[in-house]
Amino acid sequence: MHLPQDVLDHYALGREQDRLSRGHGRLEALRTTELLHRWLPPPPATVLDVGGAAGRYALPLAERGYDVHLLDPVPLHLEQARVASAAAARPLATVLEGDARALPFEEASADAVLLLGPLYHLVERSDRLTALREARRVLRPGGVVVAAAISRFASTADGICAGFLRDPRFAEMVERDVRTGVHDNRWQEPGWFATAWFSLPHELAEEVAEAGLVPDGPVAVEGLGGTATGLDALLDDPGTCERVLAAVRRVEREPSLLGASPHLLVAGRVPPTA
Ligand SMILES: C[S@@+](CC[C@H](N)C(=O)[O-])C[C@H]1O[C@@H](n2cnc3c(N)ncnc32)[C@H](O)[C@@H]1O
Repeated sequence: MHLPQDVLDHYALGREQDRLSRGHGRLEALRTTELLHRWLPPPPATVLDVGGAAGRYALPLAERGYDVHLLDPVPLHLEQARVASAAAARPLATVLEGDARALPFEEASADAVLLLGPLYHLVERSDRLTALREARRVLRPGGVVVAAAISRFASTADGICAGFLRDPRFAEMVERDVRTGVHDNRWQEPGWFATAWFSLPHELAEEVAEAGLVPDGPVAVEGLGGTATGLDALLDDPGTCERVLAAVRRVEREPSLLGASPHLLVAGRVPPTA
């Protein structure tokens, strides 16, 4: 299946492996991990990490006792995941090349599917629904998909907080993002995100429901922490880190704040009797 060349080029730069270890990425990883622990069934269970990149979530889940299959379309990510898996105390079950829209797994073979990335790289709604229906197909009754969206307003915040708006081309892109939802980095600036769909807060839960899953969410991942500066200094201190997480968690479903969170998650459950 076709993926935009700029998406493949963006990930070939190899930034995914370290993205979640500092700043906003670090908060994203802490909160995503917390939400996975909330939504996933207890181990042992089979988890498919679709768009799992270098294995930032897949490997710790395997360590916790899950059988984890990682799938990604980017060769560099697969190589990084294989190397990390080979060095892990509990390796991944498989590392496969593939696309969220056509999963190489049997019907009703998994307890959880992670879609933490593929959906926002599918700008056509019909493609996102195909990926969500594929997740539903491979899930057992009672199984859960955890799906991520990028907020429609993420580039607006980034443009201001990280100073990208110094460049008029970034301002043009931000205006288009807010107006259309299609993030189109037509200049292929390597420091800017590749082709993506930026959702309004309610849209992902609607798509999850349309795919036949019962949604829980949207839930803000970083919340207002997504616009903070100096996050590492806060997260380095264990007490402050806990207080930041508690503050984000307290308002994670507040409708008036959802769009300010760079990432949103929705869990979608297959009805137990399906
Ligand atoms: C921003 S990264 C997120 C990686 C990781 N899941 C995380 O949450 O940090 C998006 C990932 O989705 C993958 N991806 C993009 N389009 C995809 C598709 N159609 N099917 C599966 N994975 C896809 C990319 O290769 C990349 O690894």
